[in-house]
Order: sequence, then C-alpha cells, then structure tokens
Amino acid sequence: MRVLVVGNGGREHALAWKLAQSELVSELLIAPGNPGTAAVGENIAVGAEDVDQLLALALDREVDLTVVGPEAPMVAGIADRFIESGLKIFAPSAAAARLEGSKSWAKDLMGRAGVVTARARRFDNSEEALAYAFSLPEGSFVIKADGLAAGKGVLLPDTHQEASNAIVSMIDGNAFGHSGDNLLIEDRMSGPELSVFAFIQGEHVSAEVAACDYKRADDGDEGPNTGGMGAYTPPEFWTPQLAARIRTEILEPVARQMAAEGNPYNGVLYAGLMLTQDGPSVIEFNCRFGDPESEVLMPLLESDLAAICLATAEGSLADAEVQWGSSAHVGVVMTSGGYPGKYHTGLSISGLDEAGLVFHAGTSVNEDGEILTGGGRVLVVVGSGEDVSEARDEAYANVGKIEFEREYHRGDIAERALGSAAAIGAGTKR
Ligand code: AMP
Ligand code: GLY
Repeated sequence: MRVLVVGNGGREHALAWKLAQSELVSELLIAPGNPGTAAVGENIAVGAEDVDQLLALALDREVDLTVVGPEAPMVAGIADRFIESGLKIFAPSAAAARLEGSKSWAKDLMGRAGVVTARARRFDNSEEALAYAFSLPEGSFVIKADGLAAGKGVLLPDTHQEASNAIVSMIDGNAFGHSGDNLLIEDRMSGPELSVFAFIQGEHVSAEVAACDYKRADDGDEGPNTGGMGAYTPPEFWTPQLAARIRTEILEPVARQMAAEGNPYNGVLYAGLMLTQDGPSVIEFNCRFGDPESEVLMPLLESDLAAICLATAEGSLADAEVQWGSSAHVGVVMTSGGYPGKYHTGLSISGLDEAGLVFHAGTSVNEDGEILTGGGRVLVVVGSGEDVSEARDEAYANVGKIEFEREYHRGDIAERALGSAAAIGAGTKR
C-alpha cells in the first residue's frame, strides 16, 4: 500500500523508518519530511498543518493510509476530513484530540472516568485566579495555559509573587496568545516522570510501553525547557506491576469513557505520568507519539507498524499484533549551540555515515547533497543494547563520531537508569 506520513521531525523520521520496513508498504510519502526521511521515502513539500493540501495530496496520489505525527493537524480535524473523503488515517478525530488540545477538557474527562490526576481549577479572569493562587501555600501549585502551547505552557512558581506575575502575563498580557486566555491552577505533584504509550481503537488498548524523556537543556536537569534533549527505554522503575496498574487505572478507563461518550479514540495515546507516593497520576495526555520518545520506541517495536496503524484506522486493532521487545534503547539529541534560544543553521555535518542509527530532527541539504544543520534540535542518535548501560554506551560512542560547529548535547541521558537491569524482563504482548 501507499502510505503518507505527516510531519518533519525526528519522530516522523523514526515512524517513516519503521514503516519502510513493513512488507505491506510499497511506497512511502512524507509531507513535508526532512533529509532523513528522504532516504526511506519520497518527500513532498506540503506543510504538516496544511490540512487542505494534505487531503488533496492523499486523494491525488491515491494514498491508502495516512499516519500523522504532530498534534496540530489532529486538533484541526485532519482525521475527520480524511474519513469524510473515504480515506484511511491513523489519527484521532478532533473531538478525541481534545484530550491534548484542551487541558481543562482532559481534566473533566479524567474526572468522569475516575482517573487520578492533580486537582485543578480553570480561570478566565486574573482576579479570581490570583485570589485562588494566594489561598494556596507558596510553591504548592503549577499554572498552565489551557490550549496547545507547544509544550511551553506550564509554569512552576515557587512564590506567590512569581505566581501573580505569571497569571497576569498569561491572562492579561497574552504571553501564550489565545492558549493563555484560560488557565488552570493545578496542585503540584512530585516524583519520577514517565511517558506511557498504547495504541487505542475504541475500547481496545494494545500492549503498553514506557520511556523517559529529558526536557531541560543542560545536565542535571538545569537550564531552560526544550522540545526534548534525549530519551530512553525501559525506565529503571518500569515493572509488570506498574504497567498493569497504569493500564487498568488510566489507559482502559480513558478508552472506555471516550467510547461511551461518543468520541471513541483511534490512534496512539501518550500519557505523561508522575509516580507520586500514592501511585501514578496523570500530568497530561497527548494524542500522538512523543518526540524524542518515538526515536527509542520504534526500534523496540517488533510488530509491523503499518499493520497496526491500518488496523487502528479500520477498526480491527484487537486482531493486530502489538509486540514490544525487551531490549534497551537510548536516544541523545544533538543540538545547535544556543538552542532553545538563538542558534546557527547551515553548518555542515560530518560523520553521519559511521554513526549507526541516527534520526534527523532539523537538517537541510545543499546542492552538493551535503547534510547541514537546519534547526535547533539537529539529530537524534540512538544506541541499542541488552540493557540501558549498553545502549547508552553505543549512543554516546556514535555521538562522538558526528561533528558540526557549535554542536551541543547533554552528557547525562539515561545516566540515572544505570546499574538497574531492565526490570520489565520479557516483552509484553496483547
Ligand atoms: P506538560 O506540558 O503538562 O507536560 O508539563 C510540562 C512539565 O511540567 C511536566 O513534564 C512536569 O515536569 C511539569 N508539571 C506539569 N504539571 C505538573 C504538576 N501538576 N505537578 C508537578 N509538575 C508538573
Ligand atoms: N516528549 C515530549 C513530547 O513529545 O511532548
């Protein structure tokens, strides 16, 4: 079949790389793709948010299945549009994508489904928000923009003064555009974080899998927030017991509730969780694969991604094999110095061919076919092994083979998982 992947980052390169291995896939298109995806398929210059043009492309090229990477087209209704036109697509409907698109809607849904998450209140005017914030102890809450804010809509104020500045700038100062018109004030939780993924189609939830990502720019989780500096799987605290608990207390109730309310979820669900002293609690849901989590999870997936996505789109996920392996994978993001602030692009990259599994996040290509830096996050170098220690050694050895001017990466990706064997043991299958 002819498959179209929508998106242009490291996540989409990983998805395209995995789809290209499927015997079901005879032709792979990526819109818009990047120089990495060009090696496994045909890039087509249509933007990931241009739903009209994507639909025209899928119809024109008689695409059999579309796999969507980023959330923006989902929230904009790409699945609804494609399905109306008789096309198969792996992406939740706009109504179901509210799980990511509206934090307050997701909170309410979790309440109705009985899923544990931090208590939150929603405000659309700064006076009431300030009054509530000042009624809570300093440092005991977080403030979030309600809509999509590209991962940058969460503030963790330590004092009432910081909280008050944040509230005023979000609601009155438009610090997050319309995403900040409504905000949530949520109880602050603590504990290790993990990202859990499962394919969901209606009430059916596939085998789940977990990874940890690193959001801060510098070693030791210092520095500004980024789109992600690295990831690894499995988390050192991931056990069959924890997986089962997350499945029965979070993933299945959400799938059932969405279906019962007439918004069945079809796609991959990403649960961002915190392991509090009382157990797993939801930080947020995303309606897509994580980035850079996908880059370490696609090498772990033993089953055929195209078959899974097709089954999800056709309503037969229960019959598809979803088997995650038991190996470990570590992804280190190589960035252009200065990111997430100002950085240079157009710098030539050497050593790519010797560096093993490398996904392109932000690269470009010049007339001579030379690969250049083209974004803040440039490459994701993935190492694999029997345990995280082996995978990490391979990833960093390969990072050392790649060079570009002003290259920067974290040196401590997956370090905290060292010494603890991959706890999950044999792969999970459902
Ligand atoms: P989000 O955009 O919702 O994923 O939040 C970004 C980051 O903010 C998360 O990865 C957490 O580290 C932190 N965070 C969000 N909500 C909370 C919370 N209720 N308590 C503590 N930390 C939080
Ligand atoms: N890894 C964070 C995200 O994809 O949102």
